[in-house]
Amino acid sequence: MRRVFVTWPLPSASLDRLAAVCQVISNPREEILARADLIRGAAGAFALVTTLRDVVDAAVLDATGVKLVANVAVGFDNIDVDAARKRKVLVTNTPGVLTETTADLAFALMLATLRRVAEGDRLVRAGAFHGWHPGLMLGRDLHGKTLGVVGLGRIGRAVARRARGFSMRVLYHGGRPEDIGLEPRSLPELLAESDIVSLHVPLTPATRGLIGAEELGRMKRHAVLINTARGDVVDTEALVAALERGHLGGAGLDVFEGSPERPDPRLFAMEHVVMTPHVGSATVETRRAMAEKAVDNVLAAAQGQRPPDLVGG
Ligand code: GLV
Repeated sequence: MRRVFVTWPLPSASLDRLAAVCQVISNPREEILARADLIRGAAGAFALVTTLRDVVDAAVLDATGVKLVANVAVGFDNIDVDAARKRKVLVTNTPGVLTETTADLAFALMLATLRRVAEGDRLVRAGAFHGWHPGLMLGRDLHGKTLGVVGLGRIGRAVARRARGFSMRVLYHGGRPEDIGLEPRSLPELLAESDIVSLHVPLTPATRGLIGAEELGRMKRHAVLINTARGDVVDTEALVAALERGHLGGAGLDVFEGSPERPDPRLFAMEHVVMTPHVGSATVETRRAMAEKAVDNVLAAAQGQRPPDLVGG
């Protein structure tokens, strides 16, 4: 039986399916493994099932000799795909199953930021709500606004579909222009025209720091930036500066720069910033579906078939 090392305890139904075909060794604890423990556990295994917190670089590939890395995430910036390709190691991800869930969270952040949902919750909990009055916590409408989707992939399109239900005009930059009614723009045009800019690009060398001081400066005053993609797509220093000088109306951030991600503490005092702890795909249903997809990929490879979700060619 081929050995599979799993770095995070998957739901038991998925582990059982894997165990029917492979010898499975799993980290039993819901804790990200230290690099040394990951290498020790995966050494000599056929496949390594990873979370997006597990860094799989050339040294890990060489030290373990795995033939497949199945990431339980759609993003795979934690894996050196070039190094894997050179070593003929297959890499897979979990596209599709988390699309709608992540798009839901992007919308939750838009609504929370524009309608001051988290701020209102804090006010009520602080005992500071003493009855309705007409000037209390005025926010901004989401419906009818112009949304700029940066990266029209699966998740970007799911966000665009939701936007139609909110009677929004949708601009997009990058991605597959198969949707009727969405308007293509260069990035500078999109930034200048949108009331809300929502990021849906993967983290690659080309998208690292994609939204910096110049890009934020192009955004409308009072526009809102939503990031459910990867923190490193945005230059945090530039974002904090734009928020501090009141250039932006706010930001809804599910992801943060760094690995592990570390929200900039200057954001904590900003009422017009809504932050969630990288929970774009974090629902019970979607986590199950992601685990199933990762298992499908390992099982295919273990049975000599092409895994359905190969990345990087
Ligand atoms: C989550 O961020 C993912 O890439 O699946």
